[in-house]
Amino acid sequence: MQDLSLHILDVVENSITAGARNIEIIVSEDAGKDLLTIEISDDGKGMDEEFVQKVLDPFITTRTERRVGLGLSLFAESARMSNGHLRIRSNKLGGTKITALFQHSHIDRRPMGDLGSTLMTLIAGNPQIDFVYRHTRDGRRFELDSKELKERLPNKSLASTEGLKLLRKELKTNLLEFLHTAWPGAHKLRDQK
Ligand SMILES: Nc1ncnc2c1ncn2[C@@H]1O[C@H](COP(=O)(O)OP(=O)(O)O)[C@@H](O)[C@H]1O
Ligand SMILES: [Mg+2]
Repeated sequence: MQDLSLHILDVVENSITAGARNIEIIVSEDAGKDLLTIEISDDGKGMDEEFVQKVLDPFITTRTERRVGLGLSLFAESARMSNGHLRIRSNKLGGTKITALFQHSHIDRRPMGDLGSTLMTLIAGNPQIDFVYRHTRDGRRFELDSKELKERLPNKSLASTEGLKLLRKELKTNLLEFLHTAWPGAHKLRDQK
Protein backbone atom coordinates (compact mmCIF):
# COMPACT_ATOMS: atom_id res chain seq x y z
CA MET A 1 0.00 0.00 0.00
CA GLN A 2 1.60 3.21 -1.19
CA ASP A 3 1.03 6.90 -0.66
CA LEU A 4 0.06 8.65 -3.86
CA SER A 5 3.32 10.63 -3.91
CA LEU A 6 5.21 7.31 -4.16
CA HIS A 7 3.03 6.27 -7.09
CA ILE A 8 3.90 9.60 -8.71
CA LEU A 9 7.59 8.92 -8.11
CA ASP A 10 7.22 5.53 -9.74
CA VAL A 11 5.34 6.76 -12.80
CA VAL A 12 7.71 9.68 -13.34
CA GLU A 13 10.64 7.27 -13.12
CA ASN A 14 9.09 5.40 -16.06
CA SER A 15 9.02 8.70 -17.99
CA ILE A 16 12.68 9.33 -17.18
CA THR A 17 13.64 5.82 -18.28
CA ALA A 18 11.69 6.46 -21.49
CA GLY A 19 14.02 9.37 -22.24
CA ALA A 20 11.58 12.21 -21.60
CA ARG A 21 12.89 15.80 -21.80
CA ASN A 22 9.64 17.33 -20.57
CA ILE A 23 7.44 15.95 -17.82
CA GLU A 24 4.20 17.48 -16.61
CA ILE A 25 2.55 16.45 -13.35
CA ILE A 26 -0.94 17.75 -12.69
CA VAL A 27 -2.88 17.08 -9.50
CA SER A 28 -6.42 18.39 -9.29
CA GLU A 29 -8.74 18.19 -6.36
CA ASP A 30 -12.39 19.00 -6.91
CA ALA A 31 -14.54 19.04 -3.78
CA GLY A 32 -17.79 19.56 -5.70
CA LYS A 33 -17.24 16.45 -7.80
CA ASP A 34 -15.47 14.60 -4.93
CA LEU A 35 -12.72 13.85 -7.42
CA LEU A 36 -8.94 13.66 -7.23
CA THR A 37 -7.08 13.40 -10.52
CA ILE A 38 -3.37 12.79 -11.05
CA GLU A 39 -2.07 13.20 -14.58
CA ILE A 40 1.52 12.60 -15.67
CA SER A 41 2.56 13.37 -19.25
CA ASP A 42 5.92 12.92 -20.91
CA ASP A 43 7.52 13.24 -24.33
CA GLY A 44 9.50 10.03 -24.00
CA LYS A 45 9.65 7.15 -26.42
CA GLY A 46 6.10 5.99 -25.74
CA MET A 47 4.58 2.54 -26.10
CA ASP A 48 2.78 0.99 -29.02
CA GLU A 49 -0.89 0.14 -28.81
CA GLU A 50 -0.38 -3.53 -28.20
CA PHE A 51 2.00 -2.87 -25.31
CA VAL A 52 -0.41 -0.37 -23.72
CA GLN A 53 -3.09 -3.09 -23.74
CA LYS A 54 -0.77 -5.37 -21.81
CA VAL A 55 1.00 -2.95 -19.51
CA LEU A 56 -1.49 -3.16 -16.64
CA ASP A 57 -0.71 -6.83 -16.36
CA PRO A 58 1.74 -7.12 -13.43
CA PHE A 59 3.78 -9.69 -15.31
CA ILE A 60 4.78 -7.32 -18.10
CA THR A 61 7.97 -5.30 -17.91
CA THR A 62 10.77 -4.43 -20.33
CA ARG A 63 13.27 -4.32 -17.50
CA THR A 64 15.69 -7.19 -17.48
CA GLU A 65 16.82 -7.07 -13.86
CA ARG A 66 13.30 -7.75 -12.58
CA ARG A 67 10.66 -9.92 -14.20
CA VAL A 68 7.61 -8.20 -12.82
CA GLY A 69 6.69 -4.59 -13.66
CA LEU A 70 4.45 -3.47 -10.85
CA GLY A 71 4.43 0.32 -10.92
CA LEU A 72 1.46 0.91 -13.19
CA SER A 73 -0.58 -2.07 -12.07
CA LEU A 74 -0.22 -1.04 -8.41
CA PHE A 75 -1.23 2.52 -9.28
CA ALA A 76 -4.28 1.16 -11.13
CA GLU A 77 -5.10 -0.98 -8.09
CA SER A 78 -4.89 2.07 -5.78
CA ALA A 79 -7.26 3.96 -8.07
CA ARG A 80 -9.75 1.07 -8.28
CA MET A 81 -9.74 0.70 -4.49
CA SER A 82 -11.12 4.21 -4.20
CA ASN A 83 -13.81 3.92 -6.83
CA GLY A 84 -11.57 5.24 -9.61
CA HIS A 85 -9.45 3.97 -12.46
CA LEU A 86 -6.23 4.44 -14.41
CA ARG A 87 -6.02 5.47 -18.06
CA ILE A 88 -2.98 5.18 -20.29
CA ARG A 89 -2.64 7.14 -23.54
CA SER A 90 0.60 6.51 -25.35
CA ASN A 91 2.12 6.34 -28.78
CA LYS A 92 5.59 6.18 -30.28
CA LEU A 93 5.51 9.82 -31.44
CA GLY A 94 3.72 11.84 -28.80
CA GLY A 95 4.89 10.18 -25.59
CA THR A 96 2.73 9.00 -22.73
CA LYS A 97 -0.03 10.34 -20.55
CA ILE A 98 -1.08 8.45 -17.43
CA THR A 99 -4.28 9.60 -15.73
CA ALA A 100 -5.44 8.26 -12.39
CA LEU A 101 -8.83 9.14 -10.96
CA PHE A 102 -9.89 8.68 -7.34
CA GLN A 103 -13.02 9.37 -5.33
CA HIS A 104 -11.49 12.03 -3.10
CA SER A 105 -13.35 11.21 0.10
CA HIS A 106 -13.25 7.43 -0.34
CA ILE A 107 -12.18 5.66 2.86
CA ASP A 108 -9.61 3.59 0.96
CA ARG A 109 -8.16 6.52 -1.00
CA ARG A 110 -4.43 6.61 -0.27
CA PRO A 111 -3.12 9.85 1.31
CA MET A 112 -0.98 12.18 -0.82
CA GLY A 113 2.09 11.56 1.34
CA ASP A 114 5.20 13.70 1.09
CA LEU A 115 4.69 15.39 -2.27
CA GLY A 116 7.33 18.03 -1.57
CA SER A 117 10.09 15.45 -1.04
CA THR A 118 9.01 13.43 -4.06
CA LEU A 119 9.15 16.47 -6.31
CA MET A 120 12.40 17.64 -4.76
CA THR A 121 14.01 14.24 -5.50
CA LEU A 122 12.71 14.17 -9.06
CA ILE A 123 13.55 17.73 -10.03
CA ALA A 124 16.90 18.10 -8.25
CA GLY A 125 17.96 14.62 -9.37
CA ASN A 126 17.18 15.19 -13.05
CA PRO A 127 18.40 18.70 -13.92
CA GLN A 128 18.36 17.91 -17.67
CA ILE A 129 14.57 17.44 -17.62
CA ASP A 130 12.05 20.27 -17.60
CA PHE A 131 9.29 19.65 -15.08
CA VAL A 132 5.99 21.39 -14.71
CA TYR A 133 4.02 20.70 -11.54
CA ARG A 134 0.53 22.09 -11.23
CA HIS A 135 -1.80 21.49 -8.32
CA THR A 136 -5.30 22.86 -8.24
CA ARG A 137 -7.64 22.64 -5.32
CA ASP A 138 -11.04 24.03 -6.23
CA GLY A 139 -10.39 27.61 -7.30
CA ARG A 140 -6.80 27.77 -6.08
CA ARG A 141 -3.60 26.78 -7.80
CA PHE A 142 0.08 26.11 -7.13
CA GLU A 143 2.42 25.92 -10.09
CA LEU A 144 6.12 25.21 -10.48
CA ASP A 145 7.97 25.33 -13.79
CA SER A 146 11.56 24.16 -13.43
CA LYS A 147 12.65 25.97 -16.60
CA GLU A 148 11.25 29.22 -15.30
CA LEU A 149 12.97 28.65 -11.91
CA LYS A 150 16.30 27.97 -13.66
CA GLU A 151 16.03 31.26 -15.57
CA ARG A 152 15.81 33.11 -12.26
CA LEU A 153 19.19 31.77 -11.12
CA PRO A 154 22.46 33.51 -11.99
CA ASN A 155 24.09 30.15 -12.92
CA LYS A 156 20.87 28.72 -14.45
CA SER A 157 21.29 25.48 -12.50
CA LEU A 158 18.82 23.87 -10.12
CA ALA A 159 21.52 21.42 -9.05
CA SER A 160 23.59 24.29 -7.58
CA THR A 161 23.43 25.39 -3.95
CA GLU A 162 21.28 28.37 -4.91
CA GLY A 163 19.15 26.21 -7.15
CA LEU A 164 18.45 23.74 -4.36
CA LYS A 165 17.64 26.60 -2.01
CA LEU A 166 15.11 28.00 -4.47
CA LEU A 167 13.57 24.56 -5.07
CA ARG A 168 13.35 23.94 -1.35
CA LYS A 169 11.57 27.25 -0.85
CA GLU A 170 9.03 26.39 -3.55
CA LEU A 171 8.46 22.78 -2.49
CA LYS A 172 9.03 22.79 1.25
CA THR A 173 7.49 26.16 2.01
CA ASN A 174 5.15 27.39 -0.73
CA LEU A 175 3.70 24.00 -1.75
CA LEU A 176 3.27 22.93 1.89
CA GLU A 177 1.51 26.17 2.68
CA PHE A 178 -0.79 25.59 -0.28
CA LEU A 179 -1.48 22.01 0.81
CA HIS A 180 -2.16 22.92 4.42
CA THR A 181 -4.96 25.29 3.61
CA ALA A 182 -8.33 23.73 4.35
CA TRP A 183 -9.86 21.29 1.93
CA PRO A 184 -13.49 22.47 1.53
CA GLY A 185 -14.71 18.86 1.37
CA ALA A 186 -13.72 18.48 5.03
CA HIS A 187 -16.32 21.05 6.09
CA LYS A 188 -18.99 19.33 4.08
CA LEU A 189 -18.27 16.00 5.76
CA ARG A 190 -18.34 17.61 9.21
CA ASP A 191 -21.63 19.37 8.45
CA GLN A 192 -23.28 16.11 7.48
CA LYS A 193 -22.68 14.61 10.90
N1 LIG B 1 6.06 6.74 -19.62
C1 LIG B 1 6.43 5.61 -20.26
N2 LIG B 1 7.01 5.67 -21.49
C2 LIG B 1 7.38 4.53 -22.13
N3 LIG B 1 7.20 3.28 -21.64
C3 LIG B 1 6.63 3.16 -20.43
C4 LIG B 1 6.21 4.31 -19.68
N4 LIG B 1 5.67 3.88 -18.52
C5 LIG B 1 5.75 2.54 -18.54
N5 LIG B 1 6.33 2.10 -19.66
C6 LIG B 1 6.58 0.69 -20.03
O1 LIG B 1 5.75 -0.12 -19.23
C7 LIG B 1 6.52 -1.05 -18.46
C8 LIG B 1 5.86 -1.29 -17.13
O2 LIG B 1 5.99 -0.18 -16.27
P1 LIG B 1 5.81 -0.36 -14.71
O3 LIG B 1 4.47 -0.96 -14.46
O4 LIG B 1 6.09 0.92 -14.03
O5 LIG B 1 6.90 -1.44 -14.34
P2 LIG B 1 8.50 -1.31 -14.37
O6 LIG B 1 8.84 0.15 -14.35
O7 LIG B 1 8.93 -2.03 -13.14
O8 LIG B 1 8.93 -2.00 -15.65
C9 LIG B 1 7.91 -0.43 -18.40
O9 LIG B 1 8.89 -1.41 -18.23
C10 LIG B 1 8.01 0.28 -19.75
O10 LIG B 1 8.38 -0.63 -20.76
MG1 LIG C 1 7.94 1.68 -13.20
